Amino acid sequence: MHQTSPSTPSHTSDPQLSAQSQPQPELTPPAVLAFHDFLRAISQTPHLHAKFLNTLSFLEYIGSRKILKSQRAENITFDILSHTAEEIRHAQAFKKIALKMSQGKVESYSSEHLFCGAEATLYFQAIDQSAAARLSQPDPWTNYLLTTLLIEERANQIYPFYEHILAAAGFPGYLKTIVREENSHLQDIAAEISKHQPLTPELLDELRAMEDAAFQRFTKALQQELLQAS
Ligand SMILES: [Fe+2]
Ligand SMILES: [Fe+2]
Repeated sequence: MHQTSPSTPSHTSDPQLSAQSQPQPELTPPAVLAFHDFLRAISQTPHLHAKFLNTLSFLEYIGSRKILKSQRAENITFDILSHTAEEIRHAQAFKKIALKMSQGKVESYSSEHLFCGAEATLYFQAIDQSAAARLSQPDPWTNYLLTTLLIEERANQIYPFYEHILAAAGFPGYLKTIVREENSHLQDIAAEISKHQPLTPELLDELRAMEDAAFQRFTKALQQELLQAS
C-alpha cells in the first residue's frame, strides 16, 4: 500500500545512496492523487468536510450491514462478528468527528447530511454486484471475501493519507485505530483468499480494475459536488 503525507513527496532521492541501493518509488495512481486533491480541497470548508466525514461513516455502516446480511447465521464466526463490530466502530468514529466539526448538525444519514451519499451507495453496489457477477454460482462467503478485499485495499490506500488531513484540520490521532484495524482486515482477508484456488490472480486483477473504475466515478462526483457547493 502506498502512503504519503499531504505535503511531503513520497520519495526523495539521497545522493549518498547508490543507484543500486535506492528503492524504486512506488507511483501513486492518478485516481488516488485525484482523491488526495479532493481531500485537501474539502478540508478547507468545515461544513462540507463534516458532511463528507458523515459519508465515510455511512460507507462504514453499509460495509458492516453487508457483512451481516451476506452470511447465514450458521456461517457467522467469531472473526466475522469481530470484523462487523470494528466496521460499526469505524462508522461511529467518523460520525463523532463529523458531529464535532458540524456542531452536531450532521446527525443522520439523510441526503442533506451527506456529501454525495447516493454516489457512495453506487460505489459500494458496483463492487458488490461485480464480485457476485464473476462467481459461477451464488456463494455468499466468496462474495464477502472478494468485496471485502477490494474495499479494504482502497481503505488502506486512502485512510493513512486522510489521517494527515484530519490532523491538519484539528483532529489528530482520530483515525489511528481505524488505520490499524483496516490493515489487519486486509491481512486476514488476503490470507483467507490465498486458500481459495478458484480465485486466480487474473480474476482479482479484473475485479480491482472494476473497483478502480467505480472509485474514479465516485471521486469525479465528489469533485463536481465540491465545485458546485463552493
Ligand atoms: Fe472500516
Ligand atoms: Fe475493514
